[in-house]
Amino acid sequence: MSDLSLSTDVSLQAFNTFRIDARARRYLRITDPGQLTQLAANPALAALPRLVLGGGSNLLLTRDVEALVLHMGLLGKAIVGQDDEVTLVRAQAGENWHGLVEWTLAQGLGGLENLALIPGTVGASPIQNIGAYGAEIKDVFHALTVFDFATGKTRTMTAADCRFGYRDSVFKHAEGRDLVVLDVTFALPRAWAPNLRYAELAQALEGIADPTPRQVGNAVIAIRRRKLPDPAEIGNAGSFFKNPVVSGAECAQLLQAWPNLVHHRQADGSEKLAAGWLIDQCGWKGKSLGRAGVYPKQALVLVNNGGASGAEVMALARAIQQDVRARFGLELEPEPVTV
Ligand code: EPU
Repeated sequence: MSDLSLSTDVSLQAFNTFRIDARARRYLRITDPGQLTQLAANPALAALPRLVLGGGSNLLLTRDVEALVLHMGLLGKAIVGQDDEVTLVRAQAGENWHGLVEWTLAQGLGGLENLALIPGTVGASPIQNIGAYGAEIKDVFHALTVFDFATGKTRTMTAADCRFGYRDSVFKHAEGRDLVVLDVTFALPRAWAPNLRYAELAQALEGIADPTPRQVGNAVIAIRRRKLPDPAEIGNAGSFFKNPVVSGAECAQLLQAWPNLVHHRQADGSEKLAAGWLIDQCGWKGKSLGRAGVYPKQALVLVNNGGASGAEVMALARAIQQDVRARFGLELEPEPVTV
């Protein structure tokens, strides 16, 4: 029988990278999928709202959590298959994401290197289809296993089932409410080629003729260290807003008023605007409101300058949204899950 003893009134400060001091009324560390089966079979517990917690790196807690917190601690990673084209690597939900990237690189497997150093866990990676430096998890995704609270059973989901989009998937919508990711399998290409679409990454590797996955990973790590705060030192949740996507026509109109607007054309003709640039233009870079601030090297990242509450971070986010709306007529959508 697996352990179903719930803890009560647990501090979540160590479990969210913003380091917000909120508490969970009920908390369960999941170290065995059998615990979820047992939970689903218990009508009183199955009826509780749930908050699935991975590395807490995409989460803003603005108050104590009434929902039952399921803290994913499932561990393990292995090569589970290979053919002429791909190596299949499976990792359990509680594994540290960057730990998995390092593990694949140590074995000479390429495919995850552009996603090096992203905070969080493997189980959280498909939820928002994590991405950086021209790559997204959906590019190397093979399948995942979920526990479904609606049926009390586990099942496999394909990429199509997950409905991946820009920082989006089915798990962020109502249809995903009952699903808990247990493990994720990646298909890493055996004929690997570096993905140097992101100009700064290409520049960093200019002197190297045929870079290895390890070398690309090292360059990504160096860029991230230069631009982004380390959550172990400064509380933050990475990009706080998504980059807004507008039509080509709307972008053209904005460019007339703002010729330096940073924009990237998407395959469907729409344009992705750099939210960091918009925030920067409003003068927020390096500024603070209470104990929450805008990171001086990257305006898209909000930080906890020490002791900030979730409400303080939200107040800063709202002030930024208001300024961007007033100046550009654009809505910034927060990226982290807000409780
Ligand atoms: N910019 C400014 N001022 C700033 C920040 C950015 O002018 O303070 C402009 C610059 O011109 C820069 C452009 O915005 O060239 C884009 O900035 P950057 O390349 O740093 O990327 P981003 O759009 O700000 C996105 C992801 C990051 C990811 C990077 C690199 C989102 C919401 N964010 O940021 O992801 O690491 O690209 O690929 O899509 C995250 O999601 O937590 C995250 C860090």
